[in-house]
Amino acid sequence: MSEPVIEVRNLWTRFGRQIVHRDINLTVYRGEILALVGGSGSGKTTLLRQMLGLERPGRGEVCVFGKSLHKSDPDELLKLRRRSGVLFQEGALFSALTVFDNIALPMRELRTLEEDFIRDLVLFKLQSVGIEAKHASKMPAELSGGMVKRVALARALALEPELLFLDEPTAGLDPDRSESFVQLLRGLHRELCLTVVMVTHDLDTLAALADRVAVLCEQKLIAVGPVREVAQNAHQFICNFFQGERGRRAVEAAVKREQEQPNACVAGLPEKQGV
Ligand SMILES: Nc1ncnc2c1ncn2[C@@H]1O[C@H](COP(=O)(O)OP(=O)(O)OP(=O)(O)O)[C@@H](O)[C@H]1O
Ligand SMILES: [Mg+2]
Repeated sequence: MSEPVIEVRNLWTRFGRQIVHRDINLTVYRGEILALVGGSGSGKTTLLRQMLGLERPGRGEVCVFGKSLHKSDPDELLKLRRRSGVLFQEGALFSALTVFDNIALPMRELRTLEEDFIRDLVLFKLQSVGIEAKHASKMPAELSGGMVKRVALARALALEPELLFLDEPTAGLDPDRSESFVQLLRGLHRELCLTVVMVTHDLDTLAALADRVAVLCEQKLIAVGPVREVAQNAHQFICNFFQGERGRRAVEAAVKREQEQPNACVAGLPEKQGV
């Protein structure tokens, strides 16, 4: 069985009088791609930010690589964060920086790398996400939506993280661009054996990438498991999510992929996780 990379225990979140999370428990295993789904405002981005240590839950604990985030001092937290990359839902790039400088930023922040080395590394990262070097001097506003996502992914991978967070990675992309971005993610995941936590509402993205899916609804995690298993859950939100022709096709595609191309980065995942 794969080892846990993230452990969320008895997590509660409250903003003023609004309770967003009520006793959430979730384990993310090394090498898996876990998809987090739920309605708008169900607390997906907040949970991601808590896993990154950017926000602290009201109650409960988040451990990453075996260390409790809120018990870590700022130095330890910074070290843990450098083992993670993130593609945020909005504002994926700094608009005032070129493509090159956006990707170089996390490398320069380390203050240990020579500028020549950074240059080679940035060009290598661009190549690995399928962006030609000639675009390096462009500003984000000059890029297409698909290119912005790719550059943001290159920046997320700048420090060779083991853990990658993706918040709606294919939102706003047309079906072709979305499909090619998903293929890129699949390739990089396999190559780098990343552990990925991905928020998505897109069935095709889910079907093509997720090993397991976790469903947030009414402040709780109502199901966690492989797509084929969660899709059979009788909860109304889940029925609506997977209903119709697209839902049926997505589940079939996920099952077929699981059988034909099992994730080589995981040593085995639990069928069912108590929620
Ligand atoms: N800093 C904050 N202060 C007050 N309320 C907040 C804050 N951050 C989030 N919320 C509220 O918490 C709830 C969950 O927000 P969150 O952004 O995590 O949802 P989400 O599931 O990512 O939604 P979406 O699918 O629309 O991106 C929302 O009702 C939001 O308004
Ligand atoms: Mg969100």
